[in-house]
Amino acid sequence: MSDTRLIAVIPGDGIGPEVSKAAVRVMERSAAKHGLPVDFRWFDFGAEKYLREKVTLPEENFEDFRDNYAAVFLGALGDPRVPDMAHAKDILLGMRFRLDLYVNLRPVTLLHPDHTPLKGKSSEHLDFVVFRENTEGLYAGMGGNFKKDTLDEVAINEDVNTRKGVERIIRAAFDYAVKYGKKRVCMSDKANVLTYAHGLWQRVFKLVQRDYPQIQARHLYADVLAMEMVRAPEDFDVIVTNNLFGDILSDLGAMLVGGLGLAPSGNIHPGRVSLFEPVHGSAPPLAGKDIANPMAMILTGAMMWDHLGFTDAARELERAVRVALSRGECTADVGGTLGTEACGRVLEGLVAAGA
Ligand code: NAD
Ligand code: IPM
Ligand code: MN
Repeated sequence: MSDTRLIAVIPGDGIGPEVSKAAVRVMERSAAKHGLPVDFRWFDFGAEKYLREKVTLPEENFEDFRDNYAAVFLGALGDPRVPDMAHAKDILLGMRFRLDLYVNLRPVTLLHPDHTPLKGKSSEHLDFVVFRENTEGLYAGMGGNFKKDTLDEVAINEDVNTRKGVERIIRAAFDYAVKYGKKRVCMSDKANVLTYAHGLWQRVFKLVQRDYPQIQARHLYADVLAMEMVRAPEDFDVIVTNNLFGDILSDLGAMLVGGLGLAPSGNIHPGRVSLFEPVHGSAPPLAGKDIANPMAMILTGAMMWDHLGFTDAARELERAVRVALSRGECTADVGGTLGTEACGRVLEGLVAAGA
């Protein structure tokens, strides 16, 4: 049996295909250089296919990814012609839920001092990770409309929090802190208002923290956490929170370190096939113009290498991005003049030369 690890590339919509093309070139260069046994296979799931064929993610492909692939590498989904994101419900949320990818890991790392909008903050102040619960909460899709499109309409989305779901993401955050020598874990909720759902988070957090006496456990309500991330980002190593708050706080985190063009993420079930995608979306205004930053997807590729155990190659990709940023060889969102493709080529060159 071959030990080649299959990687499904789904470029998706908007800027997804452009950043995917640039990133996969860099990843292939990295794989060739390090002799990594990987094989990228491309799939055209996204808005175009959905509009043309009403196909989102066929069951047989889902099962193929689940059973035969090591990872899925996704560009972005979202198209103004599909305002309800029906295709993304099956492709992105479908894989998150059905592959049980309960950790959405979103690092917030300042790669170049010029790229934070925070006065007086530098790299030593901006280096934390967000552990976003990724399989339940307000994303569970439970709810409905009653008397839809009338003046008496009722609209409900339920916030689903299970003991198992809450405990495993909190444990994953503590385990990460132990593994990477981080001192602090901050859990965030709105238990002051959502007393039932987030009361569970409070109780479980208190129980789990007892198993990690060497880690400082702290709690902040999500509103004050948003403020503290801006005021004193150096106070955080690991933040753990629910699905919706994690979504919002990770975009805030991205902007603290240069914006969505630099923000990677992994949707992970440790030890199983996992899904890697930048934090950003399909950015329709940028699509097709060769101006989107491919670095978020390349840094996402580094997270994928980590997941597959290719840690040297992962660190090299990150160094290549840092070097390109320090030379100003990057796209306009981070102060450069290069297009998507040219920026990708620079990174290929840096990887080939040994960044
Ligand atoms: P977005 O993340 O697509 O873009 C917001 C803004 O961020 C852009 O207008 C641009 O200024 C900047 N930006 C994002 N990525 C960039 C990049 N690589 N380089 C440079 N600048 C970049 O958010 P949005 O506009 O709210 O959403 C657009 C669509 O994407 C929507 O349909 C949304 O639902 C979807 N979306 C998908 C994902 C995903 O696939 N994981 C994530 C977020 C949003
Ligand atoms: C993200 C995105 C998704 C989310 C959307 C596109 C469903 O914003 O990955 O951050 O809300 O999780
Ligand atoms: Mn988001």
